[in-house]
Amino acid sequence: MTRRTLIAGNWKMNGLADGLGFFAEIAPAVAKADADVLVCPPATLLRDAARLAAPHGVRVGGQDCHAATSGAHTGDISAAMLRDAGASHVIVGHSERRADHGESDGDVLAKAEAALAAGVTPIICVGETREEREAGQAAAVVARQLAGSLPVVSPGMELVIAYEPVWAIGTGLTASVEDVAAMHDAIRDQLPEPLTTCILYGGSVKPDNAAELLALADVDGALVGGASLNPLDFMAIIKAVSRKSEPLR
Ligand code: 13P
Repeated sequence: MTRRTLIAGNWKMNGLADGLGFFAEIAPAVAKADADVLVCPPATLLRDAARLAAPHGVRVGGQDCHAATSGAHTGDISAAMLRDAGASHVIVGHSERRADHGESDGDVLAKAEAALAAGVTPIICVGETREEREAGQAAAVVARQLAGSLPVVSPGMELVIAYEPVWAIGTGLTASVEDVAAMHDAIRDQLPEPLTTCILYGGSVKPDNAAELLALADVDGALVGGASLNPLDFMAIIKAVSRKSEPLR
């Protein structure tokens, strides 16, 4: 049994309807990819993106969801709504949500549970700040975030973890392969379903560094921000997936 590599794009607050030709553009790389490909556009584009992505075997996901199924939460979107619009996945606990909206590990847990209940796979993001890494706290911070935000998973439920060091997001800096390998290994040890749970790396993944990151045994894919906005860059990252059929441990 192997974990299938997942290359996920997070468009963040970028993209208008006239950019949805993206899916046809990346189709040649997706067709040859030894990976699943997911794009998380802004919610306004989700339904159209799902329709245009599906013929090319690309799935779409949300960037956040509310913990409740419905109700008086102006401006929020539930996991069931995302699923209704065609999402298979939803990112929860992205560091930008944690920082901009004060989301705690408990909030992230509630969102992940809501996603699972709605039949949407949560991509739970964790990662330390620069100050935390410099203070030697990276492993402890990520372990604490995981402990606080990992839902109990029933058989058949899938979740994905994304390790995104905050200082590497949008900065052009990436963690060293040694640091990524060590962190992914530590994360895997903490997972209830270590053999089957994908752990993605995110933080300035680009065409020129994707291959070495994706080659690491415990890196099961990438969560790509800026480079997922450019079809050529995103295709290059998809093509960088080596045929990974890592033995499970
Ligand atoms: P960048 O790839 O732009 O650094 O963003 C990473 C990220 O935050 C993906 O969720």
